Amino acid sequence: MRAPTRRRRTALMAAGVLIATGSGTAAAFTATNASAASDAAAGCSVAYTVQSQWNVGFTAQVTITNTGPAVTAWNVGWSFAGNQKVTQGWSADIAQTGAAVTAKNLSYNGSLGTGASTGFGFNGSYSGTNTSPTAFTLNGVACNGGTPTTPPTTPPTSPPTDPPTDPPTTPPTTPPPGTRVDNPYAGAKGYVNPEWSAKAAAEPGGSRIANQSTAVWLDRIAAINGVNGGMGLRAHLNKAVTQAAGQPLVIELVIYDLPGRDCAALASNGELGATELGRYKTEYIDPIAAIIADPAYAALRIVTIVEPDSLPNLVTNAGGTAGSTEACATMKANGNYEAGVGYALHKLGAISNVYNYIDAGHHGWLGWDTNMGPAAQGFLKAATTGGATVNDVTGFIVNTANYGATTEPFFKITDNVNGTSVRQSKWVDWNYYVDEQSYAQALRTLLVTTGFNSNLGMLIDTSRNGWGGTARPTGPGATTSVDTYVNGGRTDRRIHLGNWCNQSGAGIGQRPTAAPATGIDAYVWVKPPGESDGASSLIPNDEGKGFDRMCDPTYTGNGRNGNSMSGALANSPLAGQWFSAQFQELLKNAYPAL
Ligand code: BGC
Repeated sequence: MRAPTRRRRTALMAAGVLIATGSGTAAAFTATNASAASDAAAGCSVAYTVQSQWNVGFTAQVTITNTGPAVTAWNVGWSFAGNQKVTQGWSADIAQTGAAVTAKNLSYNGSLGTGASTGFGFNGSYSGTNTSPTAFTLNGVACNGGTPTTPPTTPPTSPPTDPPTDPPTTPPTTPPPGTRVDNPYAGAKGYVNPEWSAKAAAEPGGSRIANQSTAVWLDRIAAINGVNGGMGLRAHLNKAVTQAAGQPLVIELVIYDLPGRDCAALASNGELGATELGRYKTEYIDPIAAIIADPAYAALRIVTIVEPDSLPNLVTNAGGTAGSTEACATMKANGNYEAGVGYALHKLGAISNVYNYIDAGHHGWLGWDTNMGPAAQGFLKAATTGGATVNDVTGFIVNTANYGATTEPFFKITDNVNGTSVRQSKWVDWNYYVDEQSYAQALRTLLVTTGFNSNLGMLIDTSRNGWGGTARPTGPGATTSVDTYVNGGRTDRRIHLGNWCNQSGAGIGQRPTAAPATGIDAYVWVKPPGESDGASSLIPNDEGKGFDRMCDPTYTGNGRNGNSMSGALANSPLAGQWFSAQFQELLKNAYPAL
């Protein structure tokens, strides 16, 4: 996606419960305040974990591992020792008679192959002591056939005898559904989109990244039910529940269908005209909200990336600057970007396991004070429009689908060469930031001052900002002039910071990571590597997408990129379509290397 006039996660593996599959032991451990019990046998093992507990209630998570022959339906049973009552469950159909509980699979999670695990959870009430059950049955057969073990009263301090392959890096943070955690990425796995994963895995070398989490783009109304027989929103969420297997999991959805979309460029123009706010609400946001609100998905952490490029375009491209367009001036005048974003935040924010992150451009777009201040004000205006409040906003994302380096290691904004500030270099051009992380952190501080909540978290899209390979500098540039210093040392090798389409020389960036730096909730892969930013020549289509010459490698530029060459790769397909040559280049130039 664009610039100054623009543009545009998984070490997230941690768990409260670790289960050793196979015939032997089942190990379960939890953090302080949680009790745990485990059970194993020839055919199954069950880990039952109280994840949180308060005076009259508790949240429990149950993970079953089938160590016997594959089954297509499951029914897990146990009896409570005390007066516990299941009040609300998810990912299973749970019934209780007296102390006896049965939990049956739902339509989408009944199949359990040998060695496979799945999970479900519930909220319960109790009084007195909340003793965890230790004896379980799977389809009527006892899981251990032995004497129930006594649940530990304090968390085990010794490691499980049969260590899992992915040890937890952070303690579990799962609260009862309905309570948002501060950082949804902490202690969570990331959803692997099977459709993107298959395309990546089919490329030579692609299997090295095919198991990473990438966002699901809902880029048109039809995407909700699935385009061309592909997966729709429900199919993705069902798959996410299966992948979660009872543990915290983040799935990222890109909300991207505003009226008059992509007003400063043509490559990602959308299906809705400038005035079609009504359709945006009723045909796009409402159906998405209705699906997400299904209790079957209550245990997922659903991150929404709200409308890339829209609000930033109102700041810099809607009048009075070299890069302004009539389309952006129209959207500013009719207010439909703010109204649409406000509606989306309000409607989606009302669902307690949704985490809204608003798109905030990138440092090469809003990193000048004259842009950043008005941007913060504009974000606040949208976030308090149409019923939305700042409480609907978990945070902001920077660098969505763009190429700005997370950090520039060989120069910083406070450096000078013979008394001349790097801000005066041609590359930096008076910007206040040289990379995405410093921009994100400063913007966060500004947003809190502007009126957003103080626990705001930032995301950085690192899918394609790696800038490794042979062209990567290994140290600072020569101090002959401020330009030799900056140009010799910068890892971002673009021709101009405003270039945004299928950038030549770019590489895969940091892998998705939770809480990598102060104020940053996660490094995420929102733009799925291998999907084009736009076509390099005119390609007729029925998606509303236009031909933007910023995607044409022969284009000599415009006011938004300092009239520089576009730096785009040749022969690119329509935005969103698979671009094998770019995928290969991204692998080659990955930093850190793959
Ligand atoms: C395109 C979308 C696509 C997304 C992810 C955007 O530039 O306009 O159609 O889903 O990129 O690749």
